Formats: sequence, C-alpha cells, structure tokens
Amino acid sequence: MVTSAPIASEEFVSYLENLFTISLKDIKVIITDFHAEMQKGLSGYESSLKMIPSFVDRPKGDEHGSFIALDLGGTNFRVLAVELDGKRNATVRAVSKFVIPKKEMRGTGVQLFDFIVGCIDSFLTENSIDRKKLYNLSFTFSFPVEQTTIAAGKLLIWTKGFTAKGVEGKDIIILLNEALSRRNISCIKVTALANDTVGTLVARSYTDPTCDLGVILGTGTNACYREKLSNIQKLKVADAKGYMIVNMEWGNFNQLRLTRYDNELDQASVNPGAMYLEKMVSGMYLGEITRLILIDLTKRDPIFLKDSDAAESFKKRNSLKAEHMSLIEGDTTTNLDEIDRFLRNNGISNSTPHDRTTLKRLCEVVSARAARLGAAAISAVITWMDPELKDVHTVGIDGSLFEKYPGFEAKMTDVFKKMYVEKAKKITLVNSKDGSGKGAAIIAAIAASSETNQP
Ligand code: GLC
Repeated sequence: MVTSAPIASEEFVSYLENLFTISLKDIKVIITDFHAEMQKGLSGYESSLKMIPSFVDRPKGDEHGSFIALDLGGTNFRVLAVELDGKRNATVRAVSKFVIPKKEMRGTGVQLFDFIVGCIDSFLTENSIDRKKLYNLSFTFSFPVEQTTIAAGKLLIWTKGFTAKGVEGKDIIILLNEALSRRNISCIKVTALANDTVGTLVARSYTDPTCDLGVILGTGTNACYREKLSNIQKLKVADAKGYMIVNMEWGNFNQLRLTRYDNELDQASVNPGAMYLEKMVSGMYLGEITRLILIDLTKRDPIFLKDSDAAESFKKRNSLKAEHMSLIEGDTTTNLDEIDRFLRNNGISNSTPHDRTTLKRLCEVVSARAARLGAAAISAVITWMDPELKDVHTVGIDGSLFEKYPGFEAKMTDVFKKMYVEKAKKITLVNSKDGSGKGAAIIAAIAASSETNQP
C-alpha cells in the first residue's frame, strides 16, 4: 500500500517527473540489458525474453488464395475472410467483431474455445459461406505461445487479464480443433498459428520489403523481428541459412526500475511478478498507474480537487483508462474544458484550472515514460540487427496507443533523434493495422504452400 506524506501538487508533479524519467543514459542501459536477455532467450537459457521462433519469414509477395482469419488477443474477438491476389494485394472481404464476455475470458478453456467456434459459426452463416468447401484458417492468438511448427504451439502463460483455466500448457490448435469438432464444423482446416506482432510484420512487409520489425502498442505490447536462423541456437538447425521471424514477448522484459505505483499495480494484477515492461507501457495498464498516482495526490495535497471526493470517484480499480488519458492529454482548450467534462462525468463538478492542469501533467508523466520505454525497446532490437545503423528499418506498428494517443509517436521519434542524430532517419515508424487479418492470411498462404511443397 502506498503511504502518503503531505505535499503541494506542484512539488508532487516535479517529484513524479523525476521518478518517471527515462534518461538517454537509462535507455543505453536498457539496450544493453535487452541484448543480454535476447541472447539468452535465443540460446534457450532462462530469460525474461522468450524469443519464440515463428516458423515463418517475410512473404515473397506472390502468396494467393482465400483464407479465414481469427484474431484473439484483447477484449474483442474477430473473424475475417481475406483474399490475396498473388500480386501483393490483400483484401478483407468480410469481418465480424465480437466482445468476449468476462466469463469466457476467465472461465474454462472449453467455454472460451466454444465461444470462439460459436462466433465462427455465426460468421459462416451471416456471410453465406459455402460449408461444402474447405477453408484454410489462420489463428492470430496474441499470447505467449511456444510454437513448435507453423501450426502448433502451447500457451506458456496467459497475459492481458485472461485466465481461462486448462489452456496454459496446452496446444492451442488442438483446443481449437476439438471445439470445431464439438460443433460439427468440418469446412475449416487450421493451417497456421501466429502472434499479432508476426502478423503485423508480415502484413507490412508484403508491400514494403524494408520492414523488419513488427510492434504492438495497444492493450498489450510486444515485438517480433527477422533473425538469422543461425542465431536461433535453440532451434538446433545444423547449417542454418536464411531468416525466421522471432516473437520476442518483450512485454515480459524485467530489467526495469519500478516505482511504488508499478509495484502496487503489479501486486493487484492477475499475474504478479510478470510482464513488467507491458505493465509500464501498454494501454491496459497506463490508466491504472495514473489512477494510483491521482489517489495518492488527493491524499497528500489538501488543495488538489478540494471539496470533491476524487478518491471516491476513482476508487474502483481500472476506473481510469488509457482512453481517458488520451482525451485529457488531447485537451488543448484554454480552460481545459474536455478535462472538466470528463471530471464532471465522474462526479467532480468543481475542479479548478490548476487541478485540470495538474491532472494533465500526471497523464503526461506516465505516457511519456511509456513512449520512451517503447522507443528504448525498439532501439534495442534495431541495434541488435544492425549495430551501426547501416540499413533502413521500417517498423510496422499496430495498436491504439501508437495510433491514437496524442504525442506518443512524437515522443518515440524524439528518442531516436537524440540517440542516433543523423542516423535516426534510418528508422521509420509506420502504422500497420492489418496484421491480424491480412498478415494472418499471408501466413496461412505461406503455410499452405509449404505443405504442398513437402516431398
Ligand atoms: C501480450 C502478449 C503478446 C502479444 C501482446 C500484444 O504481451 O503476451 O503475445 O503480442 O500482448 O497483443
């Protein structure tokens, strides 16, 4: 529990700015530590970075066919029908989105997979898909899965608030196939399993061959990159040539300086002791860190949000979301009217301009740290692949934090400019939205063609 000593909000914000600073010196240390963890993970030693081989490399661009793609990884589940024309064009023909009920996220694996297959069933019906044909399906399952082939892999541990029982340690494709059989759906052949980062890299590199890094900055955070097969020692492929995309699971990177708020958040989470980087960077947690700080400040400064019961308004865990922070930071009106409206909606009707400025600064402190840590992690991966920054690197990034959070991208590119000066131009961040649909279809096409090419 955070204990609080009296302090004026001005002083408190300065203290926080200090506490949450990620200096260039810190970033250099993070990069070195990242490299050490990457090396251990690739060699098969215990590491906070799992470095999971994906069994797929960048596409050639001639992949073609029609595919069904599943996308599970956050609060929504999507089913898509995607077509590839073999000339670097991918078209989403149909898509259905379903909200995953809490009882499915946190119930049993059978419940969760029956829900997934129920959604597939509705999708087939709604789109009048002919059930007499056979469709290749690619499953974007955005959790740490130890893949053993392109279409097999066991869930290592749930992240992002999922806890469905009886899934950890099991092969995801077997669970999906069992659920398909329970519902007598036989028009689907599960061809590929992929992480969302891999889908993002693959989708972007379908049209842009300079893309060698796929990143998610959304509910969770993670990255994958192209690695030389000879560097993935744990695969033990003799005379390994070529490349393979590696899913790093960087959300679990743990060589980080935690604040009391991070510790409090971690302790109250469903996975204490794990996913430290994710808990400091991703959309699922930023609001909660800010809420803990806000509550602390209301206890310390009798002037902040005086006469209102701010602690009461925000007493519920996770009641402050990254979307709210985004709105707060995006308020550029002179009187911070948007923030006022937000506070009123939460039962606080008498905030002063000073209160609102303070709240905005709290959000800035938390989001700036997230953006700088994200940039540090990207720098680590790029300098691992290319220490002298000789080549151009396009980073395909998906996720609402990158896409929608005011100033997030600018704060990241600022780090590259300060770290690499002229050479920062070699790093381009691009919003790449179609990983879980188009990327997944491309992966299914690669998998299907490698199957046909088998001797
Ligand atoms: C979590 C998952 C990871 C996923 C990321 C982004 O970190 O463990 O697999 O890529 O969220 O969705």
